Amino acid sequence: MRVLLTGGAGYIGAHTAVALIEAGHDVLVVDDLSNSSAEAIARVERITGASVPLLVADCRDEEALVAFAAAHGPVDAVIHFAGLKAVGESVAEPVRYYDVNVGSALAVLRAMARLDIRTIVFSSSATVYGDPEVLPMTEASPTGIDLANPYGKTKRIIEEILQDAAAADPQLRAVSLRYFNPVGAHPSGSIGEDPNGVPNNLMPYVARVAVGALERIGIFGDDYDTPDGTGQRDYIHVADLASGHVAALEHARAGYDVYNLGTGIPVSVRELIAAFERACGRDLPAVVLPRRPGDIAASYCDPSKAEQGLGWRAELTIDDACRDAWRWQSQNPQGYATV
Ligand code: NAD
Ligand code: WQD
Repeated sequence: MRVLLTGGAGYIGAHTAVALIEAGHDVLVVDDLSNSSAEAIARVERITGASVPLLVADCRDEEALVAFAAAHGPVDAVIHFAGLKAVGESVAEPVRYYDVNVGSALAVLRAMARLDIRTIVFSSSATVYGDPEVLPMTEASPTGIDLANPYGKTKRIIEEILQDAAAADPQLRAVSLRYFNPVGAHPSGSIGEDPNGVPNNLMPYVARVAVGALERIGIFGDDYDTPDGTGQRDYIHVADLASGHVAALEHARAGYDVYNLGTGIPVSVRELIAAFERACGRDLPAVVLPRRPGDIAASYCDPSKAEQGLGWRAELTIDDACRDAWRWQSQNPQGYATV
């Protein structure tokens, strides 16, 4: 297959590009580089030995998408990663989030119709489940009740758009993948997560403390109703997540489908820090802070639908993820800007 990745220079997109190429597919990328670097694509090319055409454009630009895909086509499928993803920022700038995220998805679907592309895989999120009443979350768990942030709502809205588009076109194959907490890096250490500024998410924050760029980890609450009082999440290695996209493309059937991509294993903040300490070989300073507004106590999935429907399951552990995140962070202390 020839696969167009929107947002393919980003964290998950770059790892998926490697997995697709290694599975024998061709890849082209559209990315406006608003949260990434062209260096990520250069490194994907170095890891795989393949050439990856990159169009630097906003994927709300339907004409640019059509011209690029036509020039490098025929394209068989799209994986739509592009979008804004900072939860707090989405509360402060909701109109920008709806515009970029929903607008991008609509432009991609219009471009696909013009190019006669009938397969789309979409980056959705566990955040669509909000604060679940029952754990683990299955694909049948309720979504959208009390969704506190516009970011999560854009994911839910795009899922609904895909469902409607698939209902209207019996040949469309549309899959939403609800990622749990992606972490880790390519085992080579040459691509990884490179957030701008101070990281919002736990793993990149811990990695920056380990490399000496930040002073200490703040643990956001140790009084949750969890075994050690800190929040539990389902951390999935980005290489497993990447192979989940390959499986979704290869198994997608006509119609709309949704899959959780996670390990099913809850890991607490303290357990993640301990795993990172094993990976980097030293103790990491940490202090307990108040809970972060909007956080939930625990989030983890039942991943069995993906195993049945896609023949996929996560293989890597939190120790694998910390080892690979540490290799990436220590080899690239300034991320892709490291010279
Ligand atoms: P990322 O920011 O590293 O990647 C997104 C990419 O899209 C970036 O390269 C950015 O430059 C690009 N982009 C943003 N807006 C664009 C636009 N209008 N046109 C073209 N390119 C644009 O983020 P990521 O972690 O790789 O996430 C990829 C997708 O997965 C996103 O849709 C995100 O919401 C979703 N997701 C991420 C997580 C996570 O924790 N990382 C969890 C669940 C879902
Ligand atoms: C994990 C745990 C924190 C930072 C967010 C988005 C979600 C998804 C992934 C895209 C929690 C704790 C964190 C820190 C801490 N993105 N923590 N100190 O909140 O599960 O999910 O990113 O779809 O939508 O909400 O991930 O990594 O921020 O937090 O103690 O400095 O670590 O309280 O328990 P989260 P996270």
